[in-house]
Amino acid sequence: MMNKTVVLGVTGGIAAYKACEIASRLVKSGIEVNVIMTRSAQEFVRPLVFQSLTNRPVATDMFKEPVTWDIEHISLAKKADLFLIAPATANIIGKIAAGIADDMLSTTVMATKAPVVIAPAMNTAMYNNVIVQRNIQTLSDLGYHFISPAEGRLACGDTGIGKLADVDIIVEKVLELLDQQPQDYKGKKVVVTAGPTREALDPVRYISNHSSGKMGYSLAEAAVKRGAEVILISGPTHIKPPCGCQTIFVTTTEEMYQEVIKHYENADVLIKAAAPSDYTPEFVSDHKIKKNKEGLTIKLKLNKDILKELGRLKKKQILVGFAAETDNELEYGKKKLEEKNLDMICINNVAQENVGFGYDTNKITLVKKTGEEKSLPLMSKKELANMILDEIKDLLMEQDHI
Ligand code: PMT
Repeated sequence: MMNKTVVLGVTGGIAAYKACEIASRLVKSGIEVNVIMTRSAQEFVRPLVFQSLTNRPVATDMFKEPVTWDIEHISLAKKADLFLIAPATANIIGKIAAGIADDMLSTTVMATKAPVVIAPAMNTAMYNNVIVQRNIQTLSDLGYHFISPAEGRLACGDTGIGKLADVDIIVEKVLELLDQQPQDYKGKKVVVTAGPTREALDPVRYISNHSSGKMGYSLAEAAVKRGAEVILISGPTHIKPPCGCQTIFVTTTEEMYQEVIKHYENADVLIKAAAPSDYTPEFVSDHKIKKNKEGLTIKLKLNKDILKELGRLKKKQILVGFAAETDNELEYGKKKLEEKNLDMICINNVAQENVGFGYDTNKITLVKKTGEEKSLPLMSKKELANMILDEIKDLLMEQDHI
């Protein structure tokens, strides 16, 4: 959330003290928070509290010379990535709906092009008043975001709807809107594989590798955020699957193959970030193999190469593979691109520090079947996932134009 600015408008209600917690939580998320307080809000909380929490001057008066010019109303309106009004009284909602701009807060909201989130808090009867409800409807229709108040015992002693929504809900909504990605994958079906596979030797032992699933999960999460319908086919991992996608868990390479094939035909994009085991024991013991003084020899047979099979079956899908190498990575990676009939390959040298298995970061070279090559610097897997999706989007667009 670095480099994001939220303008927080605080209006006069007892819930103004909760805006301090909101400001503090947003600041802790790395967001610059500029607070504007109405005159009534200052009756409940002193501007100094917000100034201390945000480390920024607090705007309170249109006509008072600002401490710095970047908090003058037009500057704040332009600076805002998001405008939050919490708590919002019936008065400020009415003013915005009617187009009245007569103080620092209402003029700044009117001048902003940023998304505006309004969290009302007021007495139940006021909230249910048809005029307030009409104003909320008018603003919702114009694209303003509302966070409904909660029900409970209000400061005036009444019980009902009107309490400021939970601070967690408000902060989450702000972070969600700030993190919003372009919906450029809407209507696209993306299948991602992630993690290792396990090949049993006996009921208690298996062959596997160090894949954590982080790379594949980051790709699935990024694709969901960009509007895709995502199917994540995952080997055993310890990380939480991203929200908003269908996750299918598998154990062996054969199981991964079966699931991938099932979902391949209707996919627009298939990304194979998983590290499936190339080999499986020729013989799986049905009881625990006993220790043997002479050692143990296990004969392995080759598993299916899932990606190669997908390359053979490919019709309209954009097929993207990874290559995990420890030396000569470009040469070996390019060979895989060709042999497996891929549209693009992401080559990582997993012998390098902070690259590949288990890390939160990765460093890859992208090579497309056209020969186009791009070496990306070391970055977080989450960031990298979006860069890979940007490249795949170009491939999808090229395909649409053919
Ligand atoms: O999971 P993380 O800890 O985040 O680590 C990320 C990663 C290192 C696993 C990832 O960046 C990566 O490199 N994934 C591919 C790992 C791999 O199996 O590479 P490979 O060069 O052996 O295989 C080439 C391609 O064939 C891969 O897309 C792989 O998914 C696929 N493959 C491999 C074997 C097999 N039997 N079937 C396959 O489809």
